[in-house]
Parts: sequence; C-alpha cells; structure tokens
Amino acid sequence: MKLLVTGGAGFIGSNFIRYFLGAYPDAEILNFDKLTYAGNLQNLEDIDALPNYRFVRGDICDAEAVERDLGEPFDAVVHFAAESHVDRSIAGAREFIRTNVEGTLVMLEAARKRKVPRFLHVSTDEVYGSMAPKESATEQSPLAPNSPYAASKAAADLLVRSYVQTHKFPAVITRCTNNYGPYQFPEKLIPLMISNAFESKKLPVYGDGLNERDWIFVEDHCRALDAVLQKGRVGEIYNIGSGRPVPNIGIVRSLLKLLDKPDGLIEFVQDRPGHDRRYALDDSKIRHELGWEPKVDLDAGLEHTVDWYRKHIDWVHAATSGEYQAYYEKFYVKRRATLAEL
Ligand code: NAD
Ligand code: TYD
Repeated sequence: MKLLVTGGAGFIGSNFIRYFLGAYPDAEILNFDKLTYAGNLQNLEDIDALPNYRFVRGDICDAEAVERDLGEPFDAVVHFAAESHVDRSIAGAREFIRTNVEGTLVMLEAARKRKVPRFLHVSTDEVYGSMAPKESATEQSPLAPNSPYAASKAAADLLVRSYVQTHKFPAVITRCTNNYGPYQFPEKLIPLMISNAFESKKLPVYGDGLNERDWIFVEDHCRALDAVLQKGRVGEIYNIGSGRPVPNIGIVRSLLKLLDKPDGLIEFVQDRPGHDRRYALDDSKIRHELGWEPKVDLDAGLEHTVDWYRKHIDWVHAATSGEYQAYYEKFYVKRRATLAEL
C-alpha cells in the first residue's frame, strides 16, 4: 500500500506512520505536513532514514502543492492534518476554519481529481458534543459541537459525507475519543500534567475536575484506523473508543501517583468556556463489523506513557522550550542536503 498521510508530524500521525511501517514493512508513506507548532519531525527521527518513507513540507490549504504531490498514484489518503487544541480554538477560531474546513476541501478535491481509491478522514467524538450521564453517542447521533474546534471538525466531517453522496467519493470517516501516549504535545491534559509534575509546577485542573473523557491509547487508535482503512465500508462512519469515561481529576491523581508527586500540586483553575462535561461513545459497530477492540487498559497505558516521557526528557524540554521548532531548519534540512551530496 502506498499512502499519502497528512499531518504525519503531529501526535497521532507520527504514531500512525511508525505503526503502519512496522506492521507493513513493504508499505510506502509520503508524509505531507506544514510543521505548525504541533508538527515535530523529531517525532519521526527513527523512521526518517527508511527508503519507503518521505517527508514533504506543505500546507493542505495550498491546492497546487497538494495536487502536485498527489500526482503519483496513491492507494489511499489518510487525513490527520488539523488544528487540534480546543483552548487555542477558543482564543482564535480562524486558523481552525482554514485548516480543518478549507484544508479538508482541498484534500477532497485533489483526491477526487487524482482518483485516489480510498480516503480515510480522521474525525473526532467531539462532533457529538457533551453526553448526559450514562448516554453514549452512536454513529447516528446528531452532531452538536460546542467548541470552535469541534465545529470545524464537524464541518469537515459533513463535507466528506457530501462528497460521498454527491461524487460517489470513496471516503470512510472515523470518530475517535481522546488519545494519549508517546509524542503528544504538552498542551493537552496528560502530557501537560506530566511535564509540569516533572518540574513540580502546579497542575491546572479546569473547573471541578469532574469532566469525563474516554481515553484511548494512541496505538489502539492506530490499529483501528488500519482496520477501517483496509476493511471499512465506503461512506460509513466508525466510532472508536475505549468504553470507559473517566473524570479528569482521576487521571491527574493517577499520574501524580505514577510520578511519585504530591496531590498538593493540583490547582483548580477557572473552567474552560463551553467546556463539554462528558464524552462517551458507543463503538459497537467497529467492534462487531471489523473485529477491532482496544488492547491497552488505562492503567497500563498511563504507566507506559509516564515511562516514555521520563525516558524522553530531552524531547519534553525541546517541546516546552520551543527548541523543537528550530529542528527542521537546523538539523533536518542540513542532514538531508548532506545525504543528497553523498
Ligand atoms: P496534532 O495537533 O498533534 O498534529 C496536527 C498535525 O497537522 C501537525 O503535525 C501539524 O503540523 C499538521 N498541520 C496543521 N495544519 C496543517 C496544514 N494546514 N497543512 C498541513 N499540515 C498541517 O494533532 P493530533 O492530536 O495528532 O490529531 C490528529 C488528527 O486526529 C486531527 O485531525 C484531530 O482532529 C484528530 N483527533 C485527535 C484526537 C486526540 O485526542 N488528539 C482524537 C480524535 C481525533
Ligand atoms: P484536552 O487534552 O485539551 O482535550 P479535549 O479538550 O479535546 O478533550 O483536555 C482534556 C480534558 O482535560 C478536558 O476536559 C479539559 C481538561 N483540561 C484541564 O483540566 N486542564 C488543562 O490544562 C487542560 C489542557 C485540559
């Protein structure tokens, strides 16, 4: 399989590339990524020298660049690229509309023109909005996004649907719950709490800390994406979750225990505006139809994640200090040029 992956230098994209090339050593991947603040090529240092992996820096809103790179035949596009942080979408929504909505339109048009036989659109459970206690969203539940991020993802998701209906476009859509694991940028709950705790800084918990999220280990998400990519039915939506929503404060306390740090570091801070109380998914469709289920339970996944961040303290420092942003110009481009001269 030859894949064009957008947003492959981010958290889930880089984990997906590593997973996919590990599972299918003959696969080929072109990673198309703009390298915004969320893109970090250090996430793929161990993959970079593989002959079946290439990186191109580009913006999914740049139709010319996207069409040029889709000029060679691909078996599928896996579309991760997005602005992904709710708090940033509250501070400013424009970039979310540009990348998540307009960028997805560019990707759809280019893939349609180039007749790419499969398009996997990576959406999110946040499109369903907040769930009442004991309620969980099925793929038929109404979309009720509450943050500008979720609204931009819902718009993209519906745009993909419209291309399936109107143009018989061969897309499949996934809607996954909150991911955690290695290489997650320390602005999201779990890596932020870990990196703050390393330095014995306060851990800012929004509101009363009782908002619930259904956390899934990133590799389980990658296996689900693989299953949908290979076996999912065109035009279908697949929810992906772990089936066990947990309050934020529970996650933060578990992390502090694993890090051997005191609960006194927790600081309850002003709530996020429009903060969704609870995300919960019914993902029986993917479990029954494609035989997927998550393998990593939350305790084991959190332990593995804390351990990974401990062992990759240089990555954490580069991410929190902003140093990682110089990596592309300072090291990556130079190393590529040296390799090309040899
Ligand atoms: P991320 O923010 O870590 O990475 C996003 C990547 O997209 C970065 O590498 C960035 O450089 C790239 N990008 C941003 N704008 C771009 C543009 N205009 N052109 C090309 N590349 C661009 O995000 P993530 O957490 O890895 O999420 C990946 C996808 O999965 C997103 O679509 C997100 O909505 C979805 N998702 C995330 C979660 C989660 O918990 N993180 C859950 C469900 C779905
Ligand atoms: P986040 O990782 O930003 O994911 P999302 O908002 O997409 O679910 O946040 C997860 C939960 O943690 C969410 O309920 C908000 C909360 N949160 C905090 O309490 N403190 C923080 O500093 C952050 C970033 C999030």
